[in-house]
Amino acid sequence: PAFPLIDRFGRLHRSLRVSVTDRCNLRCFYCMPEHGAEFAKRETLLSFEEIHRLVDLLVTRCGIRDVRLTGGEPLARKDFPVLVEMLAGVNGLKDLSLTTNGILLDEFAGPLRQAGLQRLNISLDTVDEQTFQQISRRKGIDKVIAGIDAAIETGFQQIKLNTTAIKGVTESQVISLVRFAMERGVQIRFIEFMPLDTDQQWRRQSVLSGQEIRAIIEAEFGAMQTVNEVPDSQPAREFRLGSGDEIGLIQSVTTPFCEACDRIRLTADGSIRNCLFSQQEFPLRDAMRGGASDDEVLQMIAQAIEAKAAGHGINEAEFKPPERPMYSIGG
Ligand code: GTP
Ligand code: 5AD
Ligand code: SF4
Repeated sequence: PAFPLIDRFGRLHRSLRVSVTDRCNLRCFYCMPEHGAEFAKRETLLSFEEIHRLVDLLVTRCGIRDVRLTGGEPLARKDFPVLVEMLAGVNGLKDLSLTTNGILLDEFAGPLRQAGLQRLNISLDTVDEQTFQQISRRKGIDKVIAGIDAAIETGFQQIKLNTTAIKGVTESQVISLVRFAMERGVQIRFIEFMPLDTDQQWRRQSVLSGQEIRAIIEAEFGAMQTVNEVPDSQPAREFRLGSGDEIGLIQSVTTPFCEACDRIRLTADGSIRNCLFSQQEFPLRDAMRGGASDDEVLQMIAQAIEAKAAGHGINEAEFKPPERPMYSIGG
């Protein structure tokens, strides 16, 4: 029987974000501690077969249409294209996409396309090596750029670049990033810094708002027009410059979009999270390994949906960041 994922606020969930690893080959300060973390042990991660089982169940029984693979850095997981190929074969799945930091993309763009990946979002906070090292505490902007270019050459459509917008860091990068995106004909999106960093360094004052970004862009490139045909459940508001180039703003902090949220998350170690910011998780892995039936697993997922809060509450006085930081929840 059908099992639609409708929560107490009437939100229908159609999008699933699957984290495949908490490991990463960068150490971006807004996400990970400089010296890494205690990463999950191999046997605690869902196997490809377990991920496939859950995705298949959610698509065929619950009306999930879109799956986005995240991490950590998904390409750091061994044989990742094999998982993509398995998921691309799930009947009824409309959209299979990936969020990556691009470091390994030069090597993987071809195999991923071959495996049936449809769309790709690549994180890019700067195009300058020195700034890259300050932010990510590793070398390699040349590798990221080679990865972006490889993805374009391989024929991926609708590639998007994601920039985390942080006060005192991003202002000076905005113009060169927009130019970089324009030269390649890809959309760039600026994401307001959220309280998901491990070091708990997030402060309200460290958010570079979408409005501020917009002012910087318009001062250089002229007015941006709102692109109206954007579905509400998509976090990014899209704009168009006079040149025709598109810009996205993800204003999670200053203009939360939770009332239109249609997403749930599966962590790499097999728990459902109903929100990036939820304090509670719904572990499926051990039940699955203990022989839980499809209907039993669906019951647990239904509980996760039932428990979903109205919104993230970042702007409320009693807000507490989630226990897990971004790399461990899935971006
Ligand atoms: P598209 O399908 O291309 O629209 O992808 P997306 O924007 O959903 O995915 P992506 O992984 O590129 O997300 C970009 C950023 O938006 C993430 O890294 C998060 O910072 C933020 N984001 C994504 N989903 C959520 C969400 O459910 N809530 C909040 N507050 N922020 C989110
Ligand atoms: N706030 C906002 N975005 C973040 N990302 C990682 N940590 C944060 C944070 N604290 C974004 C990265 C990347 C995606 C996977 O998540 O910029 O684009
Ligand atoms: Fe959905 Fe939570 Fe993100 Fe809001 S913060 S959009 S409820 S996942």
